[in-house]
Amino acid sequence: MLTLLSAGGVRAQSEEPLAAVIERALARAREQAQIMARALEPLEGRLPRTTDEAGRLVTSDPGWWCSGFFPGVLWYLYEDSGDERFAAYAAGMTRRLEKVQYITDNHDVGFMLFCSYGNGWRLQGFPEEYRQVLLTGAASLATRYDPRIGLIRSWDFNRDRWHYPVIIDNMMNLELLLWASRMSGERRYRRMAVSHADKTLKNHFRDDASCYHVVSYDADGRVEKRETWQGLHDESAWSRGQGWALYGFTYMYRETGHRRYLRQAVRVADYLLGHPAMPSDGIPPWDLDVADPQTALRDASAAAVIASALIELSGYVDAARGARYLSFAERQLRTLSSERYLAAPGTHAGFILKHSVGFFAQHSEVDKPLTYADYYYVEALLRMKKRLSR
Ligand code: GLY
Repeated sequence: MLTLLSAGGVRAQSEEPLAAVIERALARAREQAQIMARALEPLEGRLPRTTDEAGRLVTSDPGWWCSGFFPGVLWYLYEDSGDERFAAYAAGMTRRLEKVQYITDNHDVGFMLFCSYGNGWRLQGFPEEYRQVLLTGAASLATRYDPRIGLIRSWDFNRDRWHYPVIIDNMMNLELLLWASRMSGERRYRRMAVSHADKTLKNHFRDDASCYHVVSYDADGRVEKRETWQGLHDESAWSRGQGWALYGFTYMYRETGHRRYLRQAVRVADYLLGHPAMPSDGIPPWDLDVADPQTALRDASAAAVIASALIELSGYVDAARGARYLSFAERQLRTLSSERYLAAPGTHAGFILKHSVGFFAQHSEVDKPLTYADYYYVEALLRMKKRLSR
């Protein structure tokens, strides 16, 4: 049995065992997810997004980039509990995303389909219907790859500002292409994913391993701009973006075995863990370059993404580094599972975590529950639970 140490390597006598923290958090997640699933059942075609100022559920249509996260939460809760009610809820919510497979006007198809249909395919005995949706989704995503540039185009808006924008978040959508390549034998999907990751590795990162949010390319594939969209400023380190980078290069290593991706994931992890603005409880401010990290709003979603990625990455590195990553992820999960972040039963419209930051500069979803915080938190809980039982 793995023993994880809290910050400083000393566990207080009174500290709740990590396994108990995880079970308590998963029980809360099940309670909250059922509330949300019941509320959504009569709202045909709608998926959760956040809450409004009064704490009421705000929904989206399936075309919003976050539509796959709640189905994914339900699949994970089914995986953990074996409770068929969660499989039924998950299947119902997943079905709402059926048309997403045809979306070609943005890169988020990977997030949307892999969290919903992807988890469902894995947990439901590999249904052909799900496989087809995922393969069509991959084909749609692949239409956004320009071979002259060697990357997937993330967005189509702001065409007068960016010729060919690629955002760090786009790293998260390559997993669908790698899966589709294995399933269909279409080698080009894998080549696209590797090319995209290689060019991101080359062009998105600063010397200190932090990354830009948006890199725009000209028609010949040369970098024309490095900017931010959701971060504090162009040269800042937007916290969730650093999380997407860490998570993306970690699974790229898992899927390809290319050590350059492992090295990059380690560089990003070490940058994050050593950052002076990273609080000791492991929940970063929404941007690591905020003027005062002590008082700035924290982003639970970034913490959840980082925690989940660190747990996976800890299995690919040497024992000492792995222990450091696990210890940090443990701290993050303990903090997220405290009453400060974990929604009280029956509150926050069934969301699991409080205090995430969507788009600070646009005053959109600031200090709110968000579906992707819940998804990566539950994923991290399951990953940590598996580590503890090894
Ligand atoms: N992918 C959009 C975001 O992380 O806010």
